[in-house]
Amino acid sequence: MSVQIIVGAQWGDEGKGKIVDHLSEKVDIVARYQGGANAGHTVILPPVRGQAPRQFVLHLIPSGIFHRHVLCVIGNGVVLDPVALMDEIGQLQEAGIRIDGRLLISHNAHLIMPYHKRLDAIREEGAQKIGTTGRGIGPSYIDKYSRTGIRVVDLLDRDVLCAKLKQNLETTNELLKKVYDRDELDVDRIIAEYEDFDKKIDPYITDTADYLNRALSKGKAVLAEGAQGALLDVDHGTYPFVTSSNPTSGGACTGLGIPPTAIDSVVGVVKAYSTRVGNGPFPTEQLNETGERLRKIGGEFGATTGRPRRCGWLDLVSLSYSCRINGIDRITVTKLDVLDSFDEIKVCTGYKVGNRVLARFPTDVQTLEKVQPVYRTFSGWNEPTSDIRRFSDLPSKAQSYLRAVERLLKVRLWLVSVGARRDQTLSVPRR
Ligand code: GDP
Ligand code: IMO
Ligand code: MG
Repeated sequence: MSVQIIVGAQWGDEGKGKIVDHLSEKVDIVARYQGGANAGHTVILPPVRGQAPRQFVLHLIPSGIFHRHVLCVIGNGVVLDPVALMDEIGQLQEAGIRIDGRLLISHNAHLIMPYHKRLDAIREEGAQKIGTTGRGIGPSYIDKYSRTGIRVVDLLDRDVLCAKLKQNLETTNELLKKVYDRDELDVDRIIAEYEDFDKKIDPYITDTADYLNRALSKGKAVLAEGAQGALLDVDHGTYPFVTSSNPTSGGACTGLGIPPTAIDSVVGVVKAYSTRVGNGPFPTEQLNETGERLRKIGGEFGATTGRPRRCGWLDLVSLSYSCRINGIDRITVTKLDVLDSFDEIKVCTGYKVGNRVLARFPTDVQTLEKVQPVYRTFSGWNEPTSDIRRFSDLPSKAQSYLRAVERLLKVRLWLVSVGARRDQTLSVPRR
């Protein structure tokens, strides 16, 4: 058995898409295990026949799709928006990427309905705004856990689908009218729209847990692709400013139906600095020129919503926590090149509240909002790194920075990314 889990170690957008695409060359299956179209995973394909490199942003389809030998799975832990899925399939097919026979969708995955998106938007008008992506993620997981959700398998039986949809729409319309004083949704229109998905989606639906376990017993290599990041985990993140699923490595087992004993390795994807989209505490945030430079050089604008990402220095306190709760045994540091022109690079090595040094990462927002980061400063290398292909060719100051991160986190540095393209990835020799 061989499963490698790829987790975002921060607040998402660490470059998981690029790393999963890079690693896909050597695996048989790539499987998404949680989240939904709130994810935006960017993959850049090498130029073909002198054309410019092509960029794709994937929201639901695993980032292994660009390797012809890879089979992609959308697991039971994902909340699936059929509209977004069909759109994504269409775009990929138009670009000449074959999907048929290469995509399997769990019959147990829950669906995102138009009313989930509506409720997501309405809740975001309230006082405690999370800054969600507006993709209906929270409301869909609410239905899943309150056992009123509609699953992919329900699309295949019109009577079941209509009955469940009618019931849910009645409840939602009552909520919209009585609680929120809003217009009701058109039940017939929604039923007609969703009835239509059965034919389109049918060829992809299967029992993916069974498929994956069989594949594992045949010795196939599986890459489990996490969406979001550990600090957005509903249990372990900066609650309530989190998403509604478990991006942490444990989510891969429940979200795919594979046993913990099948996991070989957990790879943490770490951006060389920190970003966060949406609200919530961010101790190392730089609300100054440094933050603006990181955003500009790093192109830090949301791949899903286009929102500017909040930017700051690398935070080893939250990262150590992330490594521990995920069981990360190696890290991949991305976007090193973004730091190329900084004279000084800071890394947060501790948190203080008043004169008290905190022993560990606090996940309660009240404390986290009060912490003062303690920084260690590295001198910048002031040289371009994007064209470097060997770790030993990186400027020595960049190597020192990376090795210090490795040492402080006590986790092996495995890969370093110096650009968004596949080939801009360096293997790191063991120390
Ligand atoms: P994901 O959600 O974790 O897959 O990350 P996103 O795709 O949302 O955001 C990462 C952004 O950084 C994308 O625009 C990538 O193309 C880009 N990117 C990934 N790795 C690197 C890198 O090493 N250097 C630079 N400059 N950009 C990168
Ligand atoms: P990838 O997979 C960054 C954030 C939102 C918001 C919070 C809750 O591309 O790394 P939600 O729509 O999930 O209810 O929003 O989580 N968020 C992400 N931030 N990257 C993502 O995905 C995210 N998915 C959700 O901005 O703060
Ligand atoms: Mg993203």
